[in-house]
Amino acid sequence: MYDLWVNYPAVPAQQAAVAEALRGLAADPEALPAGFGPPPGDPRSRAALAPLLGMAPGQDLALTCGGQSALSVALLAALGATSPARRRVAVEAYTFPMARNFFRMEGIPTLGLPVDAEGLQTDALERALASADPPGVLYLMPVLHNPLGLTYSAARLQRIAAIARCHGLWVVEDEAYAFLAAPEQRPPTLASLIPERTLVMWSLSKILSLSLRLGALSHPPALADAVAEQVRIRGLTANPVVAAAAAAMATDGCAARIVAEKRAEGERRRAMARDILGTRRFAADPGASWHIWMRRPEGETEADFLARARAAGVSIAPAKHFHHLDREAPLFRLSLGGEADPARLEAGLRILAEVLGE
Ligand SMILES: Cc1ncc(COP(=O)(O)O)c(C=O)c1O
Repeated sequence: MYDLWVNYPAVPAQQAAVAEALRGLAADPEALPAGFGPPPGDPRSRAALAPLLGMAPGQDLALTCGGQSALSVALLAALGATSPARRRVAVEAYTFPMARNFFRMEGIPTLGLPVDAEGLQTDALERALASADPPGVLYLMPVLHNPLGLTYSAARLQRIAAIARCHGLWVVEDEAYAFLAAPEQRPPTLASLIPERTLVMWSLSKILSLSLRLGALSHPPALADAVAEQVRIRGLTANPVVAAAAAAMATDGCAARIVAEKRAEGERRRAMARDILGTRRFAADPGASWHIWMRRPEGETEADFLARARAAGVSIAPAKHFHHLDREAPLFRLSLGGEADPARLEAGLRILAEVLGE
């Protein structure tokens, strides 16, 4: 089976870099952390990682054992800061499935809002905020959205920032794939526009290596105690050795080289997808992402299409997986990061082309 579902951007150099960072720590007992440190992580590791993440001025950084944990902590801290009457999260209609599942598991009501070519539609957000059940938190992925690949316009983000400020809305900004966009390709973070009410999450598993299983979140200093309590009580503190290894990679410039390689490799993989599949079925411009939101043939159910793809030898992620209400649509996400070997990716894409009738 060719994996066109999983979406961790990886390049061969990253494992050698992790090994080198761990060797450096093993050779220097002074550099090897002797304990957990405070819940948000060792201050030296945090200080070394902040520039790599592009953290907004005026925010604090916490490290966690994975991006998913960073996201959970950010959402719970934001929800804790809202009034109980507004314990409801507005999300993009297509959203990150694990966030949607997290809300369900925690019994947190959500409200799906439409997205256009510039991002979340602000008139829908304003209507929701004027309703009898206004949300207190907005969760969104403004840069290289998963699954749409969309990057918000700067104007849309400014409008969202103004609305959030006016309505006392907390924002959780998911930057999981944003590192793939070069700085000139991306708008400013919401955290830089409204630092006092935005929390941001990152996945260092995606930026550097899956073997680190490391995440990070930034938040307004006023939420420092709430974030530390979530991390401590839920046991989500980052492994201190892993955090020190990631910090060493950020400090010696090797993290920046890995990010540059991932951007270049993503470009090669998208070019391969365009050559083999054409762009006729692209439902959105993937930008710099390693995933492409695509149209499937009409006239068959999602289950039949997926079964046909599986029988042919490829796995892909259906629209329903991402829809906030699990709704089917003639769309799917193609991931270019599930197969580490480009030759296997090419073989999988050729099968997919046949399945799509290209
Ligand atoms: C949009 C988004 N946010 C958060 C995460 C969580 O990151 P991690 O898998 O590193 O925990 C992912 C992972 O797939 C993701 O796609």
